[in-house]
Amino acid sequence: MLLASAGLLLSACGTPQLGKQSIDKVLKAMTLEEKAHFVIGTGMSGNSGGGATVGATDLLLPGAAGTTYPIPRLGIPAIALADGPAGLRIQPIREGDPNTYYCTHFPIGTLLASTWNQELVESVGKAMGEEVHEYGADVYLAPAINIHRHPLNGRNFEYYSEDPVVAGKIGAAYVRGVQSNDVGTSVKHFAFNNQETNRTANNAVISPRAQREIYLKGFEIVVKESDPWTIMSSYNKINGTYTSQSRELLTDILRGDWGYKGLVMTDWYGGDDGAAQIAAGNDMLQPGTDLQYEQIMAAIADGSLTEAELDVCVRRCLELVLRSPKMKGYEFSNKPDLEAHAAVTRQSALEGMVLLENKGVLPLKNVKNVAIFGCTSYAFIAGGTGSGDVNRAYTVSLLDGLKNAGFNVDDSKKDFYEKHIAEEKAAAQAALGNSSLAAFYPIPRPTEIIPSNAELAASARKNDIAIITFGRNSGEFFDRSSADFSLNAGEKQLLNSVTRAFHAAGKKVVVVLNIGGVIETASWKNIPDAILLAWQAGQEGGNSVTDILTGKESPSGKLSMTFPVNLMDHGSSANFPIDAEADVYFPDKRPDLGVKDVDETKYEEGIYVGYRWFDKNNIPVSYPFGYGLSYTTFDYSDFATSLADGKVKVSVKVTNTGSVAGKEAVQVYISAPAGNLDKPVKELKAFAKTNKLAPGESQTLDISFAAADMSSWDESKGGWVLDPGIYKILVGASAADIRAITNVEVK
Ligand code: GLC
Repeated sequence: MLLASAGLLLSACGTPQLGKQSIDKVLKAMTLEEKAHFVIGTGMSGNSGGGATVGATDLLLPGAAGTTYPIPRLGIPAIALADGPAGLRIQPIREGDPNTYYCTHFPIGTLLASTWNQELVESVGKAMGEEVHEYGADVYLAPAINIHRHPLNGRNFEYYSEDPVVAGKIGAAYVRGVQSNDVGTSVKHFAFNNQETNRTANNAVISPRAQREIYLKGFEIVVKESDPWTIMSSYNKINGTYTSQSRELLTDILRGDWGYKGLVMTDWYGGDDGAAQIAAGNDMLQPGTDLQYEQIMAAIADGSLTEAELDVCVRRCLELVLRSPKMKGYEFSNKPDLEAHAAVTRQSALEGMVLLENKGVLPLKNVKNVAIFGCTSYAFIAGGTGSGDVNRAYTVSLLDGLKNAGFNVDDSKKDFYEKHIAEEKAAAQAALGNSSLAAFYPIPRPTEIIPSNAELAASARKNDIAIITFGRNSGEFFDRSSADFSLNAGEKQLLNSVTRAFHAAGKKVVVVLNIGGVIETASWKNIPDAILLAWQAGQEGGNSVTDILTGKESPSGKLSMTFPVNLMDHGSSANFPIDAEADVYFPDKRPDLGVKDVDETKYEEGIYVGYRWFDKNNIPVSYPFGYGLSYTTFDYSDFATSLADGKVKVSVKVTNTGSVAGKEAVQVYISAPAGNLDKPVKELKAFAKTNKLAPGESQTLDISFAAADMSSWDESKGGWVLDPGIYKILVGASAADIRAITNVEVK
């Protein structure tokens, strides 16, 4: 009210007001100092030390990551920016306020990508956006779409895939869903942020071709297919320049080549030169420091930055504020429909779970008594750590999920395990001391307790089946260790002991993987009778897993990244900071000490990331890209491919040839003719998923993509080149299960 009345009063005296007078008029009325402040955030909640002048974010939306700078005399409100890709991140409890502000913990990005279902992801985005809108945030700092260059990247759980088309299409669907609520998104981290080790200063050395075809392509698709309100530039450097200070990236490519019209904000405390960021076209500096204000004012004073350059960024900040719910005076309810969103989480999560092995044991039949093993069965992991975490009200464990479904679960060990887990967590945290980042350090997995043979024999007699859960967690600031990639000794011993006892009693064993990133599977996958990759499914995880185990829904998720036999089989393993000793610097920067893969990482594998690498080098994998089992089977027939008017059209009839209903994700790859460029064996260009098909039911999928999408980036020409010749079109159920190959000719 105060703002509005002040605005009304002042507008009477001719001071232009945002939303009433044109942006040009408001811009003209701003003083240089106001402009320099306006492009800088107002500091980070709880960490506004050194923040810009008007206090911390908590004034606006407690727990939000950042806010913009208000200018009441011009009718410019502050707007709220809040994380994160698996659900809104704000403080759940407020001083002196009897209400709570818990948010829905939706499934992690990797799980959403594993659904291969763009419509579903859009509906999840819509539910997330409702929560953002009703809790009073204006821009949602998501989705995160960086490429899974290496399995040990700590933030892979937030990201979608090793393939840019999956990352782009899923990211675009997510953005459309969120923004359908009139709130903004911030597609991150633009770009080349593919490791956590020394992320705020690491220099990524990448060829122009690998940039364009792999690391930028997903962002290009999102920009062109969903028009995100904002983009978040990344922390790292690209070929020696901070991305947030790279005019080539933020202006020439993002705006010049792709036609992006929205705003770019930095990652939090990213880069080291506020004036260089403005000059590059990084419009907003978050969360905002006083140093950045001084840098901009000094650059204006010495002429290295012109006021016209500053105005370009100020204008985009004004455009962002103008379209915000805050500017529209939206009366948010603080009462989003959490129950409905929990249902969206439960349903969407089960579509992203991937059935890796099934020797006739799933869906469960004639099972009443279930024995559960593994610490994680009692304490399911909803999602990763860091800004991608969510302050949720609850997490449904496997134990809870099985009991909710009416199984008779031996929960006699529940208290014991909860105490064991809590004690080990407390010990791990104590060991971390009171480092400012202690809250972010991923807690090591609790040690597995191996029951005695007598106990196992008794359990195998009493129960119909055994379910073992293995968990992994990771997050922002840290990459995973190489040890984290493999089952540890305790996990292996548990798997062998339980399987020996239950198989001796003629009973089966199911392994559930509650993980956020790829682990080693080849050495042990033939021991249990089934393996369900549940990922980190959000707060309803235990229920979603049970829905799959009982066959309430057939699994239809497929891998959006390769599960290699060995960690070192990845091309990127030769240039990744595996087990690198590197301190965490935040918000200050690590000086360049010349340490390989810490201070500088050379992407020597170029475009050969993920399945592109394994295909090219004929390296066998444990589970291929695009792989996932179902409870039913599908036949692909009636293939038809055409190339006309610059479009490749592929149609395929999918028939459910099994005995239960299910959905099938179909992939379309191309194999380009040899030109003067070395090319991958095949590249994914499009994908689609059927509706739920009843046994015997068919659906014809019409999948299309632009012929130009088959181009390669030719560095000698500095542009895309579509070589003439015969292009193979491969329709597949996975990268290793190609059902049909047809040809189109590019003249
Ligand atoms: C963090 C993350 C980014 C997040 C931002 C605000 O450091 O890198 O993903 O949105 O800062 O919390």
